[in-house]
Amino acid sequence: METQTKQRNSFTGSLGFVIATAGSAVGLGNIWRFPYLAARGGGGLFLLVYIAFAVTFGFTLLITEIAIGRKTQESPLTAYKKLSKKWGFLGVFSFVIPFIILSYYNIIGGWVLKYTVSYLTFQGKDMVADDYLSRFIALKGQPIVFMVLYAFLTFIIVYKGVAQGIEKYSKILMPILVIIVVFMAFYSFFISHTDESGVTRTGLQGLAMYFIPDFSGLTLEKFLNICLDATGQLFYSLSISMGVLIAYGSYMGKDVNLGKSVNMIELFDSGIAILAGMLIIPAVYVFSGKDGMSAGPGLIFIMLPKVFNSLGKFGSFIGIIFFVMVMFAALTSSVSLLEAITSSIMDKFKWSRRRSVISMSVIILLVSLIICLGYNVFYFELKMPNGAKGQILDIFDYLGNNILMPVVGILTCVLVGWIVKPKEMVDEITLNGESFPRKKLYVIMIKFVAPVLLSIIFLTGLGIL
Ligand code: PHE
Repeated sequence: METQTKQRNSFTGSLGFVIATAGSAVGLGNIWRFPYLAARGGGGLFLLVYIAFAVTFGFTLLITEIAIGRKTQESPLTAYKKLSKKWGFLGVFSFVIPFIILSYYNIIGGWVLKYTVSYLTFQGKDMVADDYLSRFIALKGQPIVFMVLYAFLTFIIVYKGVAQGIEKYSKILMPILVIIVVFMAFYSFFISHTDESGVTRTGLQGLAMYFIPDFSGLTLEKFLNICLDATGQLFYSLSISMGVLIAYGSYMGKDVNLGKSVNMIELFDSGIAILAGMLIIPAVYVFSGKDGMSAGPGLIFIMLPKVFNSLGKFGSFIGIIFFVMVMFAALTSSVSLLEAITSSIMDKFKWSRRRSVISMSVIILLVSLIICLGYNVFYFELKMPNGAKGQILDIFDYLGNNILMPVVGILTCVLVGWIVKPKEMVDEITLNGESFPRKKLYVIMIKFVAPVLLSIIFLTGLGIL
């Protein structure tokens, strides 16, 4: 039983914890999902709703999961049982979700890697074609090669451990990411373009559309939809209900100020999302007007190559740094997913890190392989409860984010709010006598508001609402 007495792996201090957790939070969700939701939700209005939700119930669930991890000193698979004997089953969900998400995140990571390599090899012109991505994913070999390469990068970092791997690499990747996002966001202020019909659009006009709330034609139904979009995005973006925060919380020192760290993570995550919107929305608006902004999920893979191309040679350079940035953002997120899975196996079966990470990576890779082949060998179309048609990747995404994630969120609220009682978490948060100004808000959120909102998301996901 040597492993049991061995000291738990941990971050070296509060900075390590904050950067690694922010690394998990800042991912494709911030750069790819947030801008298109904001564009769809009337820009500034979506931003306002998002920020209001982030500081209320986003904060509540974020702090709860981290506190569960630090209190129990266990990974997601075993933590819930330690909190309350009958609730061990929630741990199984928390183990399965990152598994499902990582299986397809690997593939999107592979796409990002492919785009990076394409820019590095000066293929920017070819990437303008609308079907560039769909032709690529329909290939049988290349997407698999890129996916495996991407998964290998994730594997190496997790294999090296918490301080020597996750913390060390996050401390390198995250500052570079911030510099690139800030540079590109400000760059997009200065672009302008005149199209064939002689209309000139500027980056500043695009920026105004992003920041100034658009209330025209707003109905109650539209507003509720914006609220729902914002809630779903918030949970995804903060890596809530995915096991990740419990795993990282368990590596956090008992002397670290939990409340303050959570504030910083929130600020970081929302800040990067807002900046990503500042760089993407004006760029798309300038080159393709209002219509381009409703491009939806294809925004960064389909619209941006067009934008980069119209910038000429300089565009290739921008393309490279943009996709390098996206890759760094994605990588620190997949690392957190693999860590949640690995630490669960280590705690449950007392396996070594090496054995756990190798075995889990192999299994995940096999699942990723099947998902990859979902675009050719196993191709089919399934209509999902929200009406969208999807392939295997979309089904995994839907299952993880729209069904299982809210279930874990709701049950965590019930467990902490009504069974374990919020006081236990408050005690953990104020362990060293720290102040907790949002304490009352926290209790109301965890008992009432968060479970209700999550239930609405869940029912919407099932197609019932
Ligand atoms: N938070 C990540 C993003 O914004 C997604 C993610 C979810 C990553 C869960 C890890 C765990 O892209």
